[in-house]
Amino acid sequence: MTTDAKKVRRISQIRNGTVIDHLNPHRVFEVVKILYIDDTTEETVTVGTNLQSKVIGKKGIIKISNRFLTQEEVNRLSVISPNATVSIIEEYEVKKKFKVKFPQEVRAILNCPNPNCVTSIEEIETRFKLVQESPILLFCTYCERYCRENEIEIL
Ligand code: CTP
Ligand code: ZN
Repeated sequence: MTTDAKKVRRISQIRNGTVIDHLNPHRVFEVVKILYIDDTTEETVTVGTNLQSKVIGKKGIIKISNRFLTQEEVNRLSVISPNATVSIIEEYEVKKKFKVKFPQEVRAILNCPNPNCVTSIEEIETRFKLVQESPILLFCTYCERYCRENEIEIL
């Protein structure tokens, strides 16, 4: 390999598993959390952030070996990273590729920004309805507050 080729080598390809690409670089670690990746995870996981992308400037990427995420699982991250793409890898080949889609309802993973909301006070699962996709606007079904993308916080 030439020196130049070494310089541009990026995160390794994976043999089997899921690649989540084109993540919003400001929210990669929240995505990690939503996917329940933590210190107890046994599989190899690589997380990259602020990587250069020709299309979107900077981006994040997460590669999880031997775990095959479903469309439903990845849809949960659409509210914080709507442009993410997901590739399912089998024996080094991209077998399936899909975009995250907005669920009509988001349960349990987001905080309501209203400190007076019952979900902020009591142990109740939060629930938001999707009002608008671009820009994102959610609606808390408990306190009826509207919530913009920059107010959305992961529990
Ligand atoms: N990938 C991987 N391991 C493999 C095959 C692919 O980690 N064995 C990753 C690639 O690095 C890329 C993603 O899976 O981040 C999708 O692969 P591919 O479709 O080959 O790449 P691109 O055409 O560049 O995809 P896109 O247009 O979505 O950026
Ligand atoms: Zn609320």
